[in-house]
Amino acid sequence: MRWTGLIRIAAVLFSLGTTWLFVQTYFNTSWKVVSLRSWLGSDPDPPKTQPLRTKCGNQKSCPESSFAFKVISGAANVVGPSMCFENTIIMSGVKNNIGRGLNIALVNGTNGQLMKTGVFDMYSGDIKLLLDFLKAIQSGTIVIVASYDDPATKLNDEARKLFTSLGSSHASKLAFRDNWNFVGAKGLKNESPFEQHLKNEAAKNKYDGWPEVLEMEGCIPKKMD
Ligand SMILES: *[C@@H]1O[C@H](CO)[C@@H](O)[C@H](O)[C@H]1NC(C)=O
Repeated sequence: MRWTGLIRIAAVLFSLGTTWLFVQTYFNTSWKVVSLRSWLGSDPDPPKTQPLRTKCGNQKSCPESSFAFKVISGAANVVGPSMCFENTIIMSGVKNNIGRGLNIALVNGTNGQLMKTGVFDMYSGDIKLLLDFLKAIQSGTIVIVASYDDPATKLNDEARKLFTSLGSSHASKLAFRDNWNFVGAKGLKNESPFEQHLKNEAAKNKYDGWPEVLEMEGCIPKKMD
């Protein structure tokens, strides 16, 4: 518990630190810096308002220029993963659009519209289905991935490289029954800050044969035209 707690904290800090990188590489835009002093000076006593429920129930609300998301990986081979995007559940057991292997949602990075979802059985499925799905992704598309049960047995070099090209730094190492959450984008020039990977290790596994569930949330910068 303590160890996974630390991992969570590290993941959050890492996300904060690298979101800027994501922003920079994804958009190629420059940002105006507003000094804290001028902001405080213009509004020394901001009105106290009730905190609103954030999109997806996330801990922090997201700026207008971004999309809120939450991804929860599968729990062992028992509870399927779920994905929330801008306060809408886009993949879940209730929606009946998830399954064993890799669960993937494609979202338009400009307007946030869900384009497509897919489930790819990586234990006994046909890798060609995943390859075709990944190769067809167009530039400017956000790619959200959650693992369930086994994300890797059928994963080959070509598929791993396609995920790497979307900004993943763990796809190359994914193994049998590892847990994996990932948000990347086609056209990303650097590694995505939104990725979690927990190895299946008998000594550390929470469940008998599987690691603990992973949960990741954050704000994905919108793509400007
Ligand atoms: C995303 O939506 C914008 C319009 O908001 C459109 O111009 C663009 O082609 C869409 N991108 C994809 C990959 O469909």
